[in-house]
Amino acid sequence: MAGKLAVIGAGLMGAGIAQVSAQAGWDVVLRDVTDEALKRGTEGIKASYDKFVAKGKLEAHDADAALARITATTDLDAVADADVVVEAVFEKLEIKHEIFRALDKLVKDEAILASNTSAIPITKIAAATERPERVVGAHFFSPVPMMQLCELVRGYKTSDETLAKAREFAESVGKTCIVVNRDVAGFVTTRLICALVVEAAKLQESGVASAEDIDLACKLGFGHAMGPLATADLTGVDILLHATNNIYTESQDEKFAAPELMRRMVDAGDIGRKSGQGFYKH
Ligand SMILES: NC(=O)c1ccc[n+]([C@@H]2O[C@H](COP(=O)([O-])OP(=O)(O)OC[C@H]3O[C@@H](n4cnc5c(N)ncnc54)[C@H](O)[C@@H]3O)[C@@H](O)[C@H]2O)c1
Repeated sequence: MAGKLAVIGAGLMGAGIAQVSAQAGWDVVLRDVTDEALKRGTEGIKASYDKFVAKGKLEAHDADAALARITATTDLDAVADADVVVEAVFEKLEIKHEIFRALDKLVKDEAILASNTSAIPITKIAAATERPERVVGAHFFSPVPMMQLCELVRGYKTSDETLAKAREFAESVGKTCIVVNRDVAGFVTTRLICALVVEAAKLQESGVASAEDIDLACKLGFGHAMGPLATADLTGVDILLHATNNIYTESQDEKFAAPELMRRMVDAGDIGRKSGQGFYKH
């Protein structure tokens, strides 16, 4: 399957989705609000293709052909004839609403509208449109060219046909999908990582084991590539605290109640790699 794809947002995720899709034969319109954002996005894509070519994983002429399939634009009207639209703008409901409202008026009736949101309920995003049955979550992971997973999320009104089309799209760009059948806070992946990080932080906080040993347990005992506390430092303790708070607010499930340690770390600015200190010193 390949056809016309529109990607809204040329940041980290949007550029990655455009990159793998163009490589898989999709004609891609990449839309952002400024020329600078588009320049950054397309330069990033080119640099990534160049790396794959240097490693012998992509032919130079295929990289050139893929780049030629990407049209970068600030004009939203350019996405009108897309078969699939993937939205990857800032994680703000108001911005996503504005975009979905505009897309709904603009694109063909049969087009599907996917959001790459990590945490906003798809049902809330879909409510801005007259076609909630054609709105679906397509949660790609970073870096998109390297990460195999796409978490497909069914909103309250998402149709089977839309889910099938989203799966067809994600598989056509080389991803393997899991399906989240109910639009729960945190979907599957964020719930799993939050449950693990919260428990790991509680074990450290209560002196049961050191951060190093908790991470080693997951690496050597369960074959995880990275321990939960190192993952928290990489993602940002603040980001995970926010995510687990959201899940807790909706579910009232105690296992998502953040320990005091995580809250105080964020208050103190020890949020991980980006601040130089988290569960580890960086
Ligand atoms: N960063 C990650 O690891 C990750 C992983 C999975 C999902 N997500 C989700 O993907 C989405 C995008 O995240 P990101 O990390 O790529 O963000 P980012 O900040 O790198 O990029 C967002 C882009 O959206 C653009 N934008 C803002 N308003 C726009 C509009 N009206 N029209 C077009 N473009 C607009 C911005 O200019 C920016 O280039 C978010 O919903 C995020 O939660 C992020």
